[in-house]
Amino acid sequence: MRSLLKAGKATCILGSQFGDEGKGKFVDLLAQDADLVCRVQGGNNAGHTIWVSGRKVVTHLLPSGVLHPQCEVAIGAGVVVDPLVLRDEILRLKEQGFDLAPERVHIDFRATAILPAHKAQDLKREFERSQTGSAIGTTGRGIGPAYASRAQRDAPRLGECITGGFLENFANSGHPLADGLTPETITELIEALKFLRPYLKDVAMIVHNRLNDGARVMIEGAQGGLLDVSYGTYPYVTSSNLVSGSCAGGIGMPPTKITEIVGVAKAYSTRVGHGPFPGELSGALEESIRERGHEFGSTTGRSRRIGWLDLVALRYMSCVNGYTSLALMKSDVLCGLEHVGLVTAYKDKRTGQLMSGWPMTAQAWESIEPVVEFESGWERVIGVQNTLDKSLERFVQRIETTLGVPVTYVSTGAERLEGVWRNPV
Ligand code: IMP
Repeated sequence: MRSLLKAGKATCILGSQFGDEGKGKFVDLLAQDADLVCRVQGGNNAGHTIWVSGRKVVTHLLPSGVLHPQCEVAIGAGVVVDPLVLRDEILRLKEQGFDLAPERVHIDFRATAILPAHKAQDLKREFERSQTGSAIGTTGRGIGPAYASRAQRDAPRLGECITGGFLENFANSGHPLADGLTPETITELIEALKFLRPYLKDVAMIVHNRLNDGARVMIEGAQGGLLDVSYGTYPYVTSSNLVSGSCAGGIGMPPTKITEIVGVAKAYSTRVGHGPFPGELSGALEESIRERGHEFGSTTGRSRRIGWLDLVALRYMSCVNGYTSLALMKSDVLCGLEHVGLVTAYKDKRTGQLMSGWPMTAQAWESIEPVVEFESGWERVIGVQNTLDKSLERFVQRIETTLGVPVTYVSTGAERLEGVWRNPV
């Protein structure tokens, strides 16, 4: 396990589906041996759930590494931060007994601040889209509008917001983002920013120095590759790039420092929000997998849509991201199914022809029909001597052969210790 992390180098752990792949548990496992874990994009649209000794711990902005006392954590300039949410998350984790001293938690001054106007715009745009049947199903946390106003160079960053008098002047400036900055919300924001002040730093330089000192660094992706704003199922995607190539920019690290890229996938697929979902299930089977897998959003509580594992999408994600290995999560949830499906190709439903390339337009996504093949299911996840059950092993090998990438880890339960390491690297 230790060799997935290398001294003076960085390892990316990236979701390879629509988010909620179980990255939190996997990052948490590796974090035992990491020195620094970083978030590089997204915001509190993410939600990572980790079970520690029967206790559920959820993080939205802080990397899961925060649960390991030896590990420093960082939030890079590529992240959009709601100061109230981050302050509350730090306080909640402190109450749960975790050490969140400013010496081990680093937040970049240049991270974009999510303001009340961003959240209002997000909800308003979603409502407008819903009137024409084109709602994305965003988390409503203001993520898209915050990135849009950063690109327009309108959004203040955390560093600006903490400057004395800045928010009061901003509120009175007639700026389009001043909407919702009432005296009460300004007071609340200033309190949160005061609390966050000791955590704000030049994170790019901290990462640079730690790498030079030989630290093992991990980048914890949020969401999943199929929600990438360029390579996902646009427009039903999030508003940031999630692919491995964008990770270094989100924290200010040279890309040459990244030597391992681990794609994390569940043994089946889930999706929250609208958009294409090849292999989507319905009825009793969907219900039972949702219940057994607790597939309800950790951020919004919404029911997740359920589908078979999509090998076409996984292979495309592997090409775009350059996975060096894979982690397969939640294999236990499918226990007891006689057959387990895999999407192995896409057909054009108008012509019945197999599609040779990746759908690159919304229209192309609308016209696809998945080809589903079935493998034998498994009654139990563990076979002899802590190896995988034979049917599950066959399923895993099929993924490896399709992608040409080793599956290094198979998670067999929610707890830290429930999992099997394969193909030690
Ligand atoms: P936004 O990121 O809030 O703008 O939402 C855009 C789309 O991404 C919606 O379909 C959300 O449900 C989805 N999404 C955003 N973050 C996550 C996540 O962490 N897990 C799963 N889906 C997400």
